[in-house]
Amino acid sequence: MTRSIVVANQKGGVGKTTTVANLGAALAAMGKRVLLIDLDPQAALTATYGINPYKLPRSMYSVLIHEGSSLARVLHPAGESTMAIAPSSVDLAAAEVQLVNAPNRAQRLRSAIENNRIPFDYILIDTPPSLGLLTLNGLVGTKEVLVPVQAHFLAMRGVRSLMEVVWRVKRRLNPELRLLGLLPTMYQPESQHNVEVVNELKRVFKTKVFDVLVYNSYAFAEAPVVNKSLVEQNPQHEGALAYRKLAEVIANHG
Ligand SMILES: Nc1ncnc2c1ncn2[C@@H]1O[C@H](COP(=O)(O)OP(=O)(O)O)[C@@H](O)[C@H]1O
Ligand SMILES: [Mg+2]
Repeated sequence: MTRSIVVANQKGGVGKTTTVANLGAALAAMGKRVLLIDLDPQAALTATYGINPYKLPRSMYSVLIHEGSSLARVLHPAGESTMAIAPSSVDLAAAEVQLVNAPNRAQRLRSAIENNRIPFDYILIDTPPSLGLLTLNGLVGTKEVLVPVQAHFLAMRGVRSLMEVVWRVKRRLNPELRLLGLLPTMYQPESQHNVEVVNELKRVFKTKVFDVLVYNSYAFAEAPVVNKSLVEQNPQHEGALAYRKLAEVIANHG
């Protein structure tokens, strides 16, 4: 059984792309077959693997716009491991507009995943910092949502509205959708604010908050410079260890 997980938060810079890249690498290191799908027109995940989003004849744009276009045709190897990536391209921004009046506009990703014949254990989806049609395709096309939450002041605000969207999608479009969990990111233990935000998250979302804290570390920003995630570049780094623990928690969570 393939597990499909969408990583979503309409706030930018909270660690979505970093989570997809590092969780993917950690699952791949456990021997899992992993597909990463980049649904963000800014294409940071695609760029992480050295793929130029300006020169791509085939990308998630074609998959979403041409119904019946297969995922297999757009796949690239991601890094040195067994991971594959379905890259974004700059024209993906146009897809959001072009799809507005198209039939099955929210189900395009779902059909592509359902029709895919290449076996994967995990499909991880990166989404843009908005709740538009691209993120909606992510929520409709998967069964689990993972929400990175920056352990900062005001981070909680957006989480509630995201949850409302998730429940609405679940009621109307994708009854199988469930919240996998909230992941506190960029955590600074010396900041009383950060400690309070995580406590507040746990008070509201209880066991849905992962027992993994991703600490604030500049190493996360440095790794993609060499076309790798931190987990691939330095698996023993504290930040890499957090994502490797997360991968284990998720794999055991069933
Ligand atoms: N735990 C972390 N500590 C410090 N910086 C981080 C951490 N996670 C991600 N970053 C950096 O913060 C920026 C935003 O992260 P990113 O994953 O791109 O967020 P999003 O995809 O939600 O916009 C990037 O430069 C990334 O390298
Ligand atoms: Mg991103």
